[in-house]
Amino acid sequence: MSKNALIVGANGQDASYLAEFLLEKGYKVHGTIRRNSVPESQTTRIEGIRESGLIDLHYMDLTDTISVDSVVKETQADEIYHLAAQSHVQVSFELPKYTLDVNSGGTLAILEAVRRFSPHSKVYHAATSEMFGNSCDADGFQRETTPLIPVSPYGCSKLYAHSLCHNYRNAYKMFICSGILFNHESPRRGINFVTNKTVLEAVKIKLGMSKKLVLGNLYSKRDWGHAKDYVEAMWLMLQQDKPNDFVIATGETRSVKEMVKYVFSKLGMNWEDHVQTDKKFERPEELDYLRGDPTKAKQLLSWKPKYTFESMMDEMIEYWLKELKK
Ligand code: NAP
Ligand code: GDD
Repeated sequence: MSKNALIVGANGQDASYLAEFLLEKGYKVHGTIRRNSVPESQTTRIEGIRESGLIDLHYMDLTDTISVDSVVKETQADEIYHLAAQSHVQVSFELPKYTLDVNSGGTLAILEAVRRFSPHSKVYHAATSEMFGNSCDADGFQRETTPLIPVSPYGCSKLYAHSLCHNYRNAYKMFICSGILFNHESPRRGINFVTNKTVLEAVKIKLGMSKKLVLGNLYSKRDWGHAKDYVEAMWLMLQQDKPNDFVIATGETRSVKEMVKYVFSKLGMNWEDHVQTDKKFERPEELDYLRGDPTKAKQLLSWKPKYTFESMMDEMIEYWLKELKK
């Protein structure tokens, strides 16, 4: 019999790739969406599979525990992928309480609902490299054992949720994996994250539709992978015999400036002619450097990314060139 999966936050970047991945594997897929006054934007990233009736959608908001209980109880999923969050770091400084309510309180609501109504479900929790803050091992990598000292309300909210996952795993013997994923991007990435913002604006400049790109801190470094590779790792975690935590990363790091330079040069332009900076895109406290060590995932999950930084950025450039030429 085919397995039954529930994706919490089905319209997100990762959720859209995960839904396609699980459908290919023959899963029955349920997903949750939020009510929005513009109904089209509730399902933008999953329009194709929604129209074909391949995904069963349920309304759920993480701040509404009644809806969380109902959906978990009703779907009785073999696997629950909890991907919903207020996921923007800079926004979390402006909406700190909401970020905490959704990311920490919402995770508690999911874990409690599973404990009470669907204890057989295996749970994946979307933790993050933002939990490390500026802590790093002496060899320049972050790994599962690196101290977690977050520097944003978002990072703090995810650390609280990550700790709850450990607590529920140990106290109630629940199968809960927390994936410590480093930044992952794609053409489906929100356009207020730095990679897709850069690609979209650079393509507009190339096509004569815009003149400049305004960014914040160009000197922070990130370990950027592709969302499609990272959702496979989520699935692999839930196929193991025991619940565990895993760092998912490429092991490479680049500055925002290097990423910007790559995109502009790929489009035949000099980035310095078009890029300006503005303090309004800087955070009150910055996470300066991320470089993950995915050795544990490679050894225990046999996980290996297929995309390189270049092939990922090229895909994003191609996507926007095609979209904007339409
Ligand atoms: P995303 O594109 O921002 O998607 C987040 C999803 O959560 C959206 O579907 C959103 O719904 C939903 N959501 C937000 N608030 C909600 C609420 N109150 N109740 C119910 N649903 C809510 O994020 P992503 O990039 O796919 O990331 C997926 C998860 O991994 C997130 O938890 C993120 O924090 C975490 N993560 C991401 C990265 C990364 O680099 N992408 C790295 C590490 C961890 P709407 O579509 O209606 O807004
Ligand atoms: N968003 C944004 N916009 N970031 C900018 C800009 C800008 O105009 N200019 C410079 N940056 C810098 C940020 O200061 C940060 O150092 C870096 O670019 C990356 O920013 P984001 O793309 O917003 O990602 P993030 O690293 O803050 O957070 C993402 O990765 C986390 C994993 O480490 C998000 O996906 C989080 O949800 C995720 O957990």
